Amino acid sequence: MSSPFELRRLATPQDLFQAAAEEVISNAANAVAQRGRFAIALAGGSTPRNLYTLIAANAGASLPWAQMYFFWGDERHVPPDDPDSNYRMAKETLLSKVPVPAGNIFPIPAENPDAAAAAEIYEQTLRKFFALKPGEFPRFDLILLGMGPDGHTASLFPQTSALQEKSRIVVNNWVEKLGASRITLTLPALNAARAALFLVSGSDKASALREVLEGDGPAEKFPSRLLQPVDGELIWFVDRAAACELSKSLNQSVETRQS
Ligand code: 6PG
Repeated sequence: MSSPFELRRLATPQDLFQAAAEEVISNAANAVAQRGRFAIALAGGSTPRNLYTLIAANAGASLPWAQMYFFWGDERHVPPDDPDSNYRMAKETLLSKVPVPAGNIFPIPAENPDAAAAAEIYEQTLRKFFALKPGEFPRFDLILLGMGPDGHTASLFPQTSALQEKSRIVVNNWVEKLGASRITLTLPALNAARAALFLVSGSDKASALREVLEGDGPAEKFPSRLLQPVDGELIWFVDRAAACELSKSLNQSVETRQS
């Protein structure tokens, strides 16, 4: 991995979620204090469920929810009430439990039968919120990301067309192995963030994590390696099971915190 990153190894999944929740809460408070608002892109899948539940339980009234704005890094091409919806998961675990104004929540319009149109609409939503000029990318305060056992992140799957996208902010990405469309932020959009935070838990991710952080194979086969913020922080929260194949030398090359 060429760009600098911080690796935080936690003993257990619960330790990982606790540490990540503290990071998100601190990032949100600092962003509002320094810039008057906090814009976050949430991750989907199953790993973040426990994180969102912890944030809802721990942050409570202590966060400036009215100055916090919620987006998604990707979405399945399903309606918002579908069991596979990343929006539905975040709403159930976090957004329905905290006093964030409804107008501060920007789901990807994945109910649109035309996934390309949904992507275009979301791109316009981001252009408007971030007041972007042509060619600019949104600078989220924080982007949360998971990683699949194949090294994908968001809906940037190995050898899919979205990996080549250099100018769009949001695209529809056909994923052959899923036989489905996904709507996803593109790499330039993700890499414009002030901070990106990966959550990787479980032994099924160990091989991909080693390839992403230490491998030298083609990055298109391990898209998470392409997450390299241009001017931002990159922090990997991993638990012991996910980190079990990482080399001991990795400790010296990046700041690693053991908890
Ligand atoms: C999604 C996510 C995806 C996820 C990884 C890991 O929509 O599924 O955005 O990138 O983070 O697939 O998923 P798990 O956390 O379920 O292992």
